Amino acid sequence: MASIDEFFDKVISVKLPDDRQSVDILDQTLLPGTIKRINLHTKEELWDAIKKLKVRGAPAIGVSAAYGLAVLANRIDASDFDSFYKEFKEIKDYLASSRPTAVNLFWALNRMDDKALSVKDQSIGSIKETLFTEAQKIRDEDVAISRNIGELGFGLLKDLKKEGKEIGILTHCNAGTIATAKYGTATAPMYTALEHGWAGSDMHVYCDETRPLLQGARLTAFELYNAGINTTLQCDNMASMLMKQGKIDIVFVGCDRVAKNGDSANKIGTSGVAILAKHYGIPFYICAPSSTIDLNTATGNDIPIEMRDPEEVTTMWYKERMAPEGIDAFNPAFDFAEHGLITGIITEKGIATAPFDKAFEELGI
Ligand code: MRU
Repeated sequence: MASIDEFFDKVISVKLPDDRQSVDILDQTLLPGTIKRINLHTKEELWDAIKKLKVRGAPAIGVSAAYGLAVLANRIDASDFDSFYKEFKEIKDYLASSRPTAVNLFWALNRMDDKALSVKDQSIGSIKETLFTEAQKIRDEDVAISRNIGELGFGLLKDLKKEGKEIGILTHCNAGTIATAKYGTATAPMYTALEHGWAGSDMHVYCDETRPLLQGARLTAFELYNAGINTTLQCDNMASMLMKQGKIDIVFVGCDRVAKNGDSANKIGTSGVAILAKHYGIPFYICAPSSTIDLNTATGNDIPIEMRDPEEVTTMWYKERMAPEGIDAFNPAFDFAEHGLITGIITEKGIATAPFDKAFEELGI
């Protein structure tokens, strides 16, 4: 089995090639069968790759949008800032329209925008270079941030460790290495444990397959298994049984947007997992960089929830359509775990506990 670093290198979610003419992504729609990278050159290709989940996961979406904006801004043919900025804004707004829920997309694009404005008095060439530097910073910071989340989550795992017994961890969807720049968020505690010398058999990760797009089966099971961690895949409706049987000690999930009151939107089904965890008295943690916390959104009810093509429910993955022609299908991509169900939100700055708005303030978020 390849070392964990070799594995991370093989599945880097987003890269900026040396020629800076495109954004290089791992096409996540082809996993786990095919590991294939593609280069996105145009704004339409970028938009489409985000929309179709070729690149997905809140932090990875943010990094690809930042790289993409830098690449596209570099092609703007303008001699003064106002005409440069007009085109820059058009590209930014277009990329921002690709997906509505993960706030990291808007956060990364706004950070690039603020950077452009902060150097508006410089030459256009120098502004373009600054944008490349900023995008690279967003990517590099994401690695450090998820490693910090990993350390904090690893602390929780250490507290649960009992001699001769593996720790049962349940996760939903994919908040792993391929959803971020390196460690993932929900997987960061496990990868950090490996870096601290734990064996893959010290833990046992139960991955919800995560209907309808199967990010748990195709992506999380793929990456944890390849990293040498004991991994089991189950259908989403089996989580309750696992919890009842005492197999789950802790739940770690990722997040697309945390509201000011701590309500946390993540892949559809997360709210059900949180309710189950509360029922069985299992600690339920959201793992999220502070860029996922949106203090401008008051509660989960204010988070825009992406609705996706009903065909993802009725047809995708089946040899032939499995639902009656013409049937209505409900396909929200996200839901939110209410703050009262959440034990803690692990950010790179510390673990926030209720009341969350106060905790965010104390952590300097
Ligand atoms: O629709 P997706 O696959 O982009 O949804 C992803 C999730 O819900 C992840 O759990 C979340 O973005 C956190 S990624 C570190």
